[in-house]
Amino acid sequence: MGNHVKHVLFHLFSFVLVTGVQVVQGSPHHNHHHHRHHKLGFSKLFVFGDSYADTGNNRKSEASSWHQPYGITFPGKPVGRYSDGRVLTDYLASFVGIKSPVPYRWRNVATKRLRYGVNFAYGGTGVFDTLVPDPNMTTQIDFFQQLIHDGVYNKSNLNSSIALVSLAGNDYTTYMAKNGTAEGLSAFTISIINQLAINLKRIQGQGVKKVAVTAIEPIGCLPQSAASSSYQQCNETNNMAAMFHNLLLQQAVEKLNNETKGSTFMVLDLFNAFMSMFNRQKDHPGIMKFGNLLKPCCVGTSAEYSCGDIDENGVKKYTVCENPESTFFWDDVHPSQEGWHAVYSALQISLDQLYI
Ligand SMILES: *[C@@H]1O[C@H](CO)[C@@H](O)[C@H](O)[C@H]1NC(C)=O
Ligand SMILES: *[C@@H]1O[C@H](CO)[C@@H](O)[C@H](O)[C@H]1NC(C)=O
Ligand SMILES: *[C@@H]1O[C@H](CO)[C@@H](O)[C@H](O)[C@H]1NC(C)=O
Ligand SMILES: *[C@@H]1O[C@H](CO)[C@@H](O)[C@H](O)[C@H]1NC(C)=O
Ligand SMILES: *[C@@H]1O[C@H](CO)[C@@H](O)[C@H](O)[C@H]1NC(C)=O
Ligand SMILES: *[C@@H]1O[C@H](CO)[C@@H](O)[C@H](O)[C@H]1NC(C)=O
Repeated sequence: MGNHVKHVLFHLFSFVLVTGVQVVQGSPHHNHHHHRHHKLGFSKLFVFGDSYADTGNNRKSEASSWHQPYGITFPGKPVGRYSDGRVLTDYLASFVGIKSPVPYRWRNVATKRLRYGVNFAYGGTGVFDTLVPDPNMTTQIDFFQQLIHDGVYNKSNLNSSIALVSLAGNDYTTYMAKNGTAEGLSAFTISIINQLAINLKRIQGQGVKKVAVTAIEPIGCLPQSAASSSYQQCNETNNMAAMFHNLLLQQAVEKLNNETKGSTFMVLDLFNAFMSMFNRQKDHPGIMKFGNLLKPCCVGTSAEYSCGDIDENGVKKYTVCENPESTFFWDDVHPSQEGWHAVYSALQISLDQLYI
C-alpha cells in the first residue's frame, strides 16, 4: 500500500466543532424491523470505534460531521453523524428494537436515554492512537468501565446488552502517514488484530452478552480510492490489504469464542456487504436504485477539498448531488443513509445470529 491509501483513509479522520448540545434519536425511517426483536431481550447497545458508528461524540473544530451538508436527509441539519442521515449504529439499534444509544458526551444531559446504552465511538480513532487526539478504543472502554464503576450499569442489566465495535481503518491511515512500509504492513495488521482481540475480551468481561465487530470494508472501493479511475473501479491492492485484515480478524474471533465456550463474539462482514452491492450492480446494471455506486453524492470541487469544506470567504468548496437516496456513498469514505440501509439489509442473516 502506498501513498494512495493515505488519501483513501485520510477522510476517516474527523474534526468537529460543537456549538451546543443536541440529542438526536436516530430511529430509522425504514422501520420494518423496528422492535422486531425487542421481546427477545436486548435492552442496551454499547458502541465503540470510529466514524462509521459515531453519532455525535466528535467535537474538534473543522469536523465535517458538524458542518453542512451533513445530516441533510436526517435529521435535516448536521448532528455529528458522518452521513447525510443515519449510520450503522442507528440501524443496529433499530434491529435490536431500541433507540439509538446516546453519545457519551451527552450522558449527563440525556440521562433517560442511558437505558438504551451509550455510544463511545469517536470519528477518526482506531485501536491505537491516530492523528486525531480523540479517545482510542482502549480509552473508550475505560469510559465504559467507569460508568459501571459509578453504578450506572451493573451485571444484571449488562446481561441483556450487546456491543458494536467499528474499526474502519484509521490505524492504517496513521501507519501510512508515519511512513510505514509495505513490508511492515502485515506485522502491523497482526498488532492491530491482537490489540482488537484484547479490547473485545475486555468488553465481554464487563458482562456484555454479545459483541459484534465489523470486518474492514473494501477500502479500495471507497470513492477516494476509486476517484483515480473516475469511479469506474476499485483498487485491488487496497482491497487485498483489507481481506488480510479480515482473515486475521475472523481467526481471532473464532479463538475468542473457543476460549469463552460460546458464540459471544461475531463479525459483521462489511467487506462482503459492500461488495455484494457493487457486484449486484455490475451483474444487473439498472436493477438497483443506485447510480454508479462508487461515485459519492458530496464531493470537493477539487482534490484539496472535501465534502463540507468552505473557503475563508465562506464559499462552498463542494457539490451535493440532487438525490442522496440514489447514491451508496455520501462522501469520500462514508456510506449515505441509503447506503447504510442497504448494507444493513445485506447483514440480516449474520445479525440474526445475535439471537442464537
Ligand atoms: C492502488 O493502490 C496502490 C497502493 O496504495 C497504489 O500504489 C496503486 O497505484 C493504486 N492503483 C491504481 C490502479 O490506482
Ligand atoms: C490509548 O490512549 C491512552 C491515553 O492517551 C494511551 O495511554 C494508550 O497507550 C493508548 N492505547 C493504545 C493501545 O494505543
Ligand atoms: C441494576 O441496576 C438496575 C437499574 O438500572 C436495578 O434495577 C437493579 O436492581 C440493579 N441490580 C443489581 C444486582 O444491583
Ligand atoms: C444472564 O441471563 C441468563 C439467561 O439469558 C441467565 O441464565 C443468567 O443467570 C443471567 N446472569 C446474570 C448475572 O444475571
Ligand atoms: C514521511 O516522509 C515524508 C516525505 O518523504 C517526510 O516529509 C515526513 O517528515 C516523514 N514523516 C515521518 C513521520 O517520518
Ligand atoms: C476452535 O475450536 C475448534 C474445535 O475445538 C478448532 O477446530 C478450531 O481450530 C479452533 N479455532 C481457533 C481459531 O482456535
